[in-house]
Amino acid sequence: MRHVGFIMDGNGRWARRRGKSRTSGHQAGAETVRRVVRHAVRLGIPYLTLYAFSTENWSRPRLEVEALMSLMERFLGSETPGLVERGVRLAAIGDLARLPAKVLKALDRARDATAGGAGTVLTLALSYGGRDELVRAARRAAECLAAAGKPPHALTAEAIGANLDTAGMPDPDLIVRTAGERRLSNFLIWQAAYAELYWSDKTWPEFTEDDFDLALADYSVRVRKYGGPDPAGIDTGTK
Ligand code: FPP
Repeated sequence: MRHVGFIMDGNGRWARRRGKSRTSGHQAGAETVRRVVRHAVRLGIPYLTLYAFSTENWSRPRLEVEALMSLMERFLGSETPGLVERGVRLAAIGDLARLPAKVLKALDRARDATAGGAGTVLTLALSYGGRDELVRAARRAAECLAAAGKPPHALTAEAIGANLDTAGMPDPDLIVRTAGERRLSNFLIWQAAYAELYWSDKTWPEFTEDDFDLALADYSVRVRKYGGPDPAGIDTGTK
């Protein structure tokens, strides 16, 4: 297991069921982020990627977007010392130029402070959309081809991968989504080609270390074939 991704869903439902504001749901979600990161570090998971804000989330009500942005800013400020202490290196993927200046600044500070971390790489997907990332990567790859005077059919999957925001990271082995929804919602769509998917019915604020362990236990018994024959040779298809 090298890379786990989380689609953190259900903050709003968690809040509604308790008669609280959506913002308090996101605040409770930030607590889960803290717990999940610490657990991933304890387990020695090399890469952890969290879908924190999608390109589509920009269309939410202005007040909710602002509350989420200030939450990110505060979280980055308050969590950085703990991340440094645990050897976590912070990274971010997405169309970061759209983020408010304050969030970008907090992100840059956190990335600089944690740059020497040799443990878990924590990637926040912020203003992130898989299609947007893919279009940006394809454009860059096409520009490289044109600059080298090569024709379009010289474009390779490797060249696209090398121009994605996740360049240099292994593809996710496991993607966990909370709150009972069963879809990727534009998260790491290229990189998830062979990812195992795990759905938890818990909302994100309710998601615990034990739930994380359950997802990992479920993953550990999956047989990954990558489109090839069953590695256990149970069904060789030769009979
Ligand atoms: C989806 O729940 C969650 C989000 C759009 C935001 C995720 C943000 C956090 C978990 C909080 C902070 C994150 C960091 C990294 C500090 P939803 O609001 O769509 O839930 P709903 O579908 O039940 O309404």
